[in-house]
Amino acid sequence: MIVYFSGTGNSRYCAEVMAAHLDDELLDSFHFIRDGIAAELISDTPWVFVSPTYAWQIPHVFRDFIRSGTFEGNSDAYFVMTCGSDIGNAEVTLRALCEEKGLNYRGVLEVIMPENFITLFRAPSPEKANQLMDRAIPLLKKAVDRVRSGKEFPEPKHRVGNGLKSGTVNKVFYKLFVKAEPYRVTGDCVGCGTCEQLCPLANIRLVDRKPQWGPNCTQCMACINSCPTEAIEYGIRSKGKRRYLCDREVKR
Ligand SMILES: Cc1cc2nc3c(=O)[nH]c(=O)nc-3n(C[C@H](O)[C@H](O)[C@H](O)COP(=O)(O)O)c2cc1C
Ligand code: SF4
Ligand code: SF4
Repeated sequence: MIVYFSGTGNSRYCAEVMAAHLDDELLDSFHFIRDGIAAELISDTPWVFVSPTYAWQIPHVFRDFIRSGTFEGNSDAYFVMTCGSDIGNAEVTLRALCEEKGLNYRGVLEVIMPENFITLFRAPSPEKANQLMDRAIPLLKKAVDRVRSGKEFPEPKHRVGNGLKSGTVNKVFYKLFVKAEPYRVTGDCVGCGTCEQLCPLANIRLVDRKPQWGPNCTQCMACINSCPTEAIEYGIRSKGKRRYLCDREVKR
């Protein structure tokens, strides 16, 4: 079973590609996370967990979703982490998580996709984004072959500073950057409720048809990138920046 978490669609798309080629079941963790429900899942086929990279680790909300759930049947667990540049040494945490869950860690695949973190960086142009997605497909197909034949994923690249990035920097990052306070809405808001519906942590509430953010944000970028009128800003950091959503879909 392919189980995913996605803020802006990159990981959803990669999960769809893998599910289509493996002819396997696809499950979005969104409602489990949003409703605080511990997943109780069974799969005859290996588990493939697909998510973005947040500060060189899997997102804490997805890690907690796996931690709180039960994953029975097949005990092999593969991970696919989409990212803007690299996943650090996330495999250390993933190995430990598998050990904790009684799963058999089979490796992590780093897949470079368009950057979605527009409150800090810039999203690529649509042309560049398409190129990145095209490049990801052969990688995903190779990964599918490995899952199908029961082989481990190849070792991810070991880069200098990986341990620091996925360790201390991840902790500092969550303290400094993972917060909703700077979110605000401009006069362009039409009260459509998209931001409220898409927040995986139910952290947005429409009051008088305008969003208000609570304290429970994981910086998934869904709200700011999905607003149809680009009425959401993050302080001045998002001003004038292109919004990004992956709208590719896999026909099954
Ligand atoms: C809060 C946050 C932190 C991120 N940290 C990293 C990172 O450490 N390394 C990286 O290469 N990309 C990082 N990114 C980029 C995303 O991992 C990447 O764009 C991903 O494909 C988005 O997936 P999604 O569309 O499924 O949400 C970060 C994005 C966000 C929003
Ligand atoms: S998605 Fe945009 S337009 Fe719709 S309610 Fe939220 S801020 Fe307003
Ligand atoms: S408030 Fe926005 S960025 Fe934060 S978790 Fe919800 S949708 Fe994601």
